[in-house]
Amino acid sequence: MGMARVIVAISGASGAAVAVDVLHLLKERAVEVHLIVSHWGAITLEHETGMRTRDLQPLVHTIHSNKNMASALASGSYPVDAMAIVPCSARTLGAIAQGTDPSLLGRAADVCLKERRKLVCALRETPLSAIHLANALAVTNAGGIVAPLVPTFYANPHSVSDIVHDMASRIVESLGFRVESSPHWGENTGLEIHRSDAPALSESSSDNIHALNN
Ligand SMILES: Cc1cc2nc3c(=O)[nH]c(=O)nc-3n(C[C@H](O)[C@H](O)[C@H](O)COP(=O)(O)O)c2cc1C
Repeated sequence: MGMARVIVAISGASGAAVAVDVLHLLKERAVEVHLIVSHWGAITLEHETGMRTRDLQPLVHTIHSNKNMASALASGSYPVDAMAIVPCSARTLGAIAQGTDPSLLGRAADVCLKERRKLVCALRETPLSAIHLANALAVTNAGGIVAPLVPTFYANPHSVSDIVHDMASRIVESLGFRVESSPHWGENTGLEIHRSDAPALSESSSDNIHALNN
């Protein structure tokens, strides 16, 4: 198999720093990344990181205009391994659920679903309305992975950049690339519980602790 080819899309939700970290992690793994940034994605990127879309060029193979429907990414005939939308706005999630988005980002996501390729939508919205939840279900039923940007508190993050890095690592692992430094329960994180210190346990939770220690 040749080099992996992945589409990363940045939409206009908060959390652009996670996308930048995803691009670094994919570059370290020699992945050929095709980047799409929506209009509001570019604005939130600049607001939250101070970076312009063109500043991301060194991290990626190609930046595609979100208006260019003649891009290779608009066709299922162009081989792509996976796509991540980081962060994914509620608007973009809804547009993908409908399958009618007029942008390249929406079309590329639609292509991933129809070709049964991996699509990871790192949704960033809270609270969620019934409309958001229905859209998340529609995308999930179509084969997409809705992976909200949620911190990994059990990894005991010490800084915002730890949290950002954990979120980015999770997304990169969902795309199918191993991130050794990412928290893996039972490998580099876990509970230190010894039987004598443990509170009285029901039989089933005692079995769980036993499994954890073995
Ligand atoms: C600074 C800023 C932060 C935003 N944060 C979010 C967010 O976290 N989630 C969300 O769904 N929309 C958020 N929005 C609104 C979206 O940008 C807006 O819905 C836009 O139409 C999304 O377009 P896009 O999906 O094509 O990028 C934010 C907008 C701005 C300006």
